Amino acid sequence: MSQQKISLTRYLVEQQRADGHIPGQLRLLLEVVARACKRISQAVNKGDLGDVLGSAESENVQGEVQKKLDIIANEVLIEANEWGGHLAAMASEEMDSIYVVPNRYPQGEYLLLFDPLDGSSNIDVNVSIGTIFSVLKKPEGHPGVQEADFLQAGAKQVAAGYCIYGPQTTLVLTVGDGVAMFTLDREQGSFVLTKENIQIPADTKEFAINMSNMRHWDAPVKRYIDECLAGSEGPRGKDFNMRWIASMVTDVHRILMRGGIFLYPWDKREPGKPGKLRLMYEANPMSWLVEQAGGMATNGRERILDIEPGKLHERVSVMLGSKNEVERVTRYHDPL
Ligand code: AHG
Ligand code: MN
Ligand code: MN
Repeated sequence: MSQQKISLTRYLVEQQRADGHIPGQLRLLLEVVARACKRISQAVNKGDLGDVLGSAESENVQGEVQKKLDIIANEVLIEANEWGGHLAAMASEEMDSIYVVPNRYPQGEYLLLFDPLDGSSNIDVNVSIGTIFSVLKKPEGHPGVQEADFLQAGAKQVAAGYCIYGPQTTLVLTVGDGVAMFTLDREQGSFVLTKENIQIPADTKEFAINMSNMRHWDAPVKRYIDECLAGSEGPRGKDFNMRWIASMVTDVHRILMRGGIFLYPWDKREPGKPGKLRLMYEANPMSWLVEQAGGMATNGRERILDIEPGKLHERVSVMLGSKNEVERVTRYHDPL
């Protein structure tokens, strides 16, 4: 008998059976998110043939100009998820406040957070982009749902993942039992398991950072990158390679596949902001995936997953990937 392909549905059913890892509602939620990602993928693929490229000429709560696809992806995720009965509320990088499941639908016990379209600057130039998502459980003990229910440390996530719209459409997922990757089989219309138990090598010779911000960095980050740039003659004694796609989702995917370190540190451009990336929609889900794959994620001083968020759209400094490199740059932040 030829080897059977394992679909995302089967993987999730088996996760549900094996020590009740995922409750039925969470399984349904993840299936719905995957279905929404398929729809977003179709929209992305249309490009100039559909009315999906370019700016929407509106601004989100972060003061960023929204692209049409930012809004389309946000709507697809909400429409797909609001009626199934598995969610209490959603929060998105593209919405000012939380979206409570309307009264006409049953309310579930989960909270879904997402960056509907990560890498917006790459949409119109046909470079890989993606959707990042994180799932929390609504705290018990009170009826209804409010923004404060979302303010949980990343360590409390019950599922996290992303979908990349690139040369292939791939969904990468953790429910706390390692990291698995699924590739969209367009003929079958389903995600098929293509990698299991993904592991990030502890050492690497590849870093990802926006070098144009070098003059704004803090001393520890400058020291770390300077040492990488010094190559085999420098203190590291080896040559480093650099990659920067400017879609966090794709930069982190590369790291999950072959190792590396990704940094988006605090810098002096906007000293009042802790960083550019968003804790709840970008840093938390990616940090959990990275840790589940044997890597490490900090803000330079503490483990990202331990940060207690003060607000929904909180930003954070991010350093993640191969363990020994993240350990090093975090050590450089230690007070002497
Ligand atoms: P988003 O498109 O969701 O706003 O996120 C973009 C983020 C992240 O994906 C990427 O790593 C970073 O912004 C790119 O920043 P630069 O423009 O500084 O390269
Ligand atoms: Mn993003
Ligand atoms: Mn985004």
